Amino acid sequence: MTELLTKERVLDALKHVKGPDLRDDIVAQGLVSEIVIHKGKVYFAIQVDPARAGELEALRQAAEKAVASVPGVEAVAVTLTADRAPGGGNGSGQEAGSPFTRPGAARDARHRPGGVPGVANIIAVASGKGGVGKSTTAVNLALALKDHGLRIGILDADIYGPSMPRLLGLKGQPQQISGNKLAPMEAYGLKVMSMGFLVDEETPMIWRGPMVMSALSQMLKDVAWGELDVLVVDMPPGTGDAQLTMAQQVPLAGAVIVSTPQDLALVDARKGLNMFRKVNVPVLGLVENMSTFVCPHCGQPSNIFGHGGARAEAARLGVPFLGEVPLTLAIRETSDEGRPVVATDPSSAGAAAFREIAARALAELERSKGAARQAPKIVVES
Ligand SMILES: Nc1ncnc2c1ncn2[C@@H]1O[C@H](COP(=O)(O)OP(=O)(O)OP(=O)(O)O)[C@@H](O)[C@H]1O
Ligand SMILES: [Mg+2]
Repeated sequence: MTELLTKERVLDALKHVKGPDLRDDIVAQGLVSEIVIHKGKVYFAIQVDPARAGELEALRQAAEKAVASVPGVEAVAVTLTADRAPGGGNGSGQEAGSPFTRPGAARDARHRPGGVPGVANIIAVASGKGGVGKSTTAVNLALALKDHGLRIGILDADIYGPSMPRLLGLKGQPQQISGNKLAPMEAYGLKVMSMGFLVDEETPMIWRGPMVMSALSQMLKDVAWGELDVLVVDMPPGTGDAQLTMAQQVPLAGAVIVSTPQDLALVDARKGLNMFRKVNVPVLGLVENMSTFVCPHCGQPSNIFGHGGARAEAARLGVPFLGEVPLTLAIRETSDEGRPVVATDPSSAGAAAFREIAARALAELERSKGAARQAPKIVVES
């Protein structure tokens, strides 16, 4: 008879891994986050000192190896994290997704000042640099989260260059309903709102600062989102007004930063990350997009933009690394045809990568929700 894979078994294995000070084990020291087990895969984070995040890769690998030997474990993903205290503590919490589907989870947010009624968690997908695949990641992340049984919405906050109508193959306009609210559009089981539904995608838009703010705030507050477990926000590129407004007006539960592997993109990713830290929004982790390219003809992998840059950067910055998305023709084609890969080609490598990223982001969200979070503050430097 096969043994059941439980959090207790995972914790028992981790009790053999010594912490950075080599005295107690990492469980006894309370360094292990909530443990998430999903279909034989085990996800958790180890809390480390930010100053030492870069040198503790050996610890991460030791923990991964210890858990890999537990019967029933198919894969292990351990991240080092340095920015918050461990969340649920010693794995006593729930399975992936449960804090979100818990009755009343959505209601909690209703009483939070500045929150969107009925929306339990708002996650931003951002990058400093344009064109790195934020929108592609946002839509596939949203679909992968939906596969966890969660109620998911996606808000296209890129009012200058909205992409959700194209990425989700949506045409037409949202209906106005009672109370001057707009009903969100729907695609692949997601609720969707984008400025692209309200104005022609081809028309260049000129927005002034205050207009950007009110457009974003209307898309959040004047859309009948209903009850959502997670609203994924696809951010415009850059670290300017729009992002700061989002962070200021909305209690973001976390941000996912997308980067390509090369140095230049990573510099911008760092800027994005610092911006969220400045406004006290937990960074759930870094995603490396357009990672290894596997030739559809010969099967040969090549690293067009380099490889592993974002993972190394995440370790250096002390934020979790959420995963690598390969550069594939299928992702490019399905995105541009409005048929996102997680929904239309779930057995592809790209879809699998997005599912892993979603599971890790959920685990991080669960962990950071446990940690106390102050209301975001914006410091205006004159
Ligand atoms: N992993 C991938 N493999 C292949 N093509 C990809 C991948 N990720 C994104 N692309 C393609 O790269 C282009 C840019 O992606 P996307 O629009 O998601 O980037 P973005 O960061 O949102 O851009 P912007 O800054 O303009 O909002 C698109 O044509 C998309 O199909
Ligand atoms: Mg985009």
